[in-house]
Amino acid sequence: MKLKRRFKVLIVIGPRPEVIKLAPIFLEFRKHKELNTEILLTGQHRQLTDQAMKDFGLKAKYDLNLMKKGQGLEELSARIFLKFGTILKRIKPDLVIAEGDTTTTAICSICCYYQKIPFAHVEAGLRSFDKFQPFPEEINRMIADIIADLHFAPTNDARENLIASGIDGKGIFVTGNTVIDSLLLLSKKNHKFRDTNLNSIKEGKPLILVTMHRRESFGRPIKEVIAALKELNKEDVQIVYPVHLNPNVKGPVYKSLSGCKNIILTDPLNYLDFINLMKKCSFILTDSGGVQEEAPTFGKPILVLRNVTERPEGVKAGIAKLVGTNRRKILRFSNLLLNNKKFYSSMAKKKGLYGAGDASKKIVKIVKTRFLNSN
Ligand code: UD1
Ligand code: UDP
Repeated sequence: MKLKRRFKVLIVIGPRPEVIKLAPIFLEFRKHKELNTEILLTGQHRQLTDQAMKDFGLKAKYDLNLMKKGQGLEELSARIFLKFGTILKRIKPDLVIAEGDTTTTAICSICCYYQKIPFAHVEAGLRSFDKFQPFPEEINRMIADIIADLHFAPTNDARENLIASGIDGKGIFVTGNTVIDSLLLLSKKNHKFRDTNLNSIKEGKPLILVTMHRRESFGRPIKEVIAALKELNKEDVQIVYPVHLNPNVKGPVYKSLSGCKNIILTDPLNYLDFINLMKKCSFILTDSGGVQEEAPTFGKPILVLRNVTERPEGVKAGIAKLVGTNRRKILRFSNLLLNNKKFYSSMAKKKGLYGAGDASKKIVKIVKTRFLNSN
């Protein structure tokens, strides 16, 4: 007897945050045996994704292994087009799912369009309304949104952006951000840090957590941030900075901050250590998108090292402040958070701005209803 072919879902992952945000979707899809769900890694990131895949206990069926040290956007895009385009013809999925605004997501969405394969975009509708900030993410997510057949918008603001850009509301679903599903999945009490660098953190001393990696900050902006961190490097404060592996970040950060007594520089942390460090810290300096979404769950103030954000919900709620990369502005707000209790309390509020932890369940249900007429 010939077995009925199962509906094939291909989840495409490039850089680290896509592992974190697509892992709960994959785990949820895998509970449904009538769906044949597999992961494809483009390998745009290597160490960072391998680490995160391990944290969630995931294995990829396909790996294009595309990372090259310091490769440019054109080369990366060209290699994704060729390798992903070719493997897509072989796999012939019934649906491709990708997330966010990376070059992996944008180019894979175009390949799906060329081969007329339905494409679903997770975290659809985010906009900064500045095509160079973040660069190239603002245009990447617009490309994925134009092509997508299903748009999973994390918030109502994101939904409104999609409608305003002319996308048919019938394909848009507000689900919350799956990053909150991941936080709830992995966040446990009494975590013991795996990275031994974190053992030197002292209880009872204010702790500032720093991350930075955006392309528009390379060069002078990152130097300004480094100068601010040097001034914050005082006896009564401790700073922990897991440094992104991009050579444009790692080079200047280690050159200037190695040896600063109260600054702990580490390799990128595994996800469990990182979220537990978030819980422990006083506040966060970051240009990360994902961290802006996670911090409100723990009630941690965020100073956003950018001039614009596509996550306005945190700013509107008073939890996040856009301080850009100006040394003086970073210092002014950091010192306010360190020394002014009233100011600190006004920003340190726990809020469920980006989801309730059930986004993946909603997404699977929508896919089944749309493609299999079941739920
Ligand atoms: C990428 C995404 C960005 C996302 C970020 C998350 C694009 C254009 N950029 O930025 O949207 O916010 O990931 O972290 O899609 N490297 C390693 N090992 C790794 C990862 C990176 O050595 O595991 C180094 C390599 O030299 C690599 C470089 O970092 O060439 C840059 O990686 P790339 O993916 O091009 O850009 P990111 O700045 O990481
Ligand atoms: N993160 C991590 N280890 C780190 C720094 C960040 O696991 O050392 C996680 C963080 O919790 C968030 C995601 O990585 O979920 C954000 O990734 P990144 O800032 O690189 O990218 P963005 O979200 O800006 O695209």
